[in-house]
Amino acid sequence: MTGRSEVLLEVDGLVQRYPGTRNAAVDDVSFQIRIGETLGLVGESGCGKSTTARCIAGLTRPTGGTVRLGTRDVLSASRSALKSLRRDMQMVFQDPYSSLNPRMTVADLVGEGLLVHGLRPERRARRDRVVELLDMVGLPASSLERRPRSFSGGQRQRIAIARALAVEPRLLICDEPVSSLDVSVQAQVLNLFKKLRTQLGLSMLFIAHDLAVVRYLCDQVAVMQSGRIVEIGSRDQVYGAPRHHYTRELLAAVPVPDPPVERERMRTFRISEEST
Ligand SMILES: Nc1ncnc2c1ncn2[C@@H]1O[C@H](COP(=O)(O)OP(=O)(O)OP(=O)(O)O)[C@@H](O)[C@H]1O
Ligand SMILES: [Mg+2]
Repeated sequence: MTGRSEVLLEVDGLVQRYPGTRNAAVDDVSFQIRIGETLGLVGESGCGKSTTARCIAGLTRPTGGTVRLGTRDVLSASRSALKSLRRDMQMVFQDPYSSLNPRMTVADLVGEGLLVHGLRPERRARRDRVVELLDMVGLPASSLERRPRSFSGGQRQRIAIARALAVEPRLLICDEPVSSLDVSVQAQVLNLFKKLRTQLGLSMLFIAHDLAVVRYLCDQVAVMQSGRIVEIGSRDQVYGAPRHHYTRELLAAVPVPDPPVERERMRTFRISEEST
């Protein structure tokens, strides 16, 4: 268990300013994620969550700050280093309808990373691995030759998760991965994340605006407002003894701890966990 407290991701003083805007979209954001840990990032729409995620994953170049994965500096990485960093940090996006190329089969969607990174160059070995990945996310091998359009939203999100996990990333960055799904399906997909986290020892940055979702899944919670992190701490601290007034406001906006509705919702989570 010695490696568990090791820092995997270190974000320091991250700033993203878009041209023509007065305030920075991300303004001096710093946090760490340790190996095996899940950090939940919460905050209202437009506070800078997706921008933070995109800067970390190397999809946009921030105005300032540093991002380190292990010992490697993401922002000053060379082209070849960036390729291996991209493998190490995979993203799952909110909308499984636009994030999967509709023309590709599931076999190609999930197997693409294996091919690109030379992990399973041989066709049959790649196929076997894809079947294994599909099983891991709860999809049958008969999905292989089908295309995204013939799947439901929840199933598509499972395909996106299998695709992200195919290359064995060190960090999974999830940007509102259950927000576009219907509540009962949300619970199933969340349970899948929880199972995978335990099974694979995944480290995750998990963005959500739903505080119940973050409470269910995350060890650490960061609360973001207007581009800044106003509070960060363990789940129990942030939910049990919030220090910042904005965190208290967010918590007050959701049902009080453990009312019947919330109890029912958590019950749904547990029920589907048993069936995952
Ligand atoms: N490409 C861009 N050009 C200019 N401004 C942008 C761009 N992308 C985002 N912004 C602005 O940056 C701010 C942060 O946006 P971001 O998408 O990171 O927020 P968010 O917290 O992910 O919101 P949501 O919960 O709605 O997804 C917003 O004010 C947004 O309008
Ligand atoms: Mg967003």
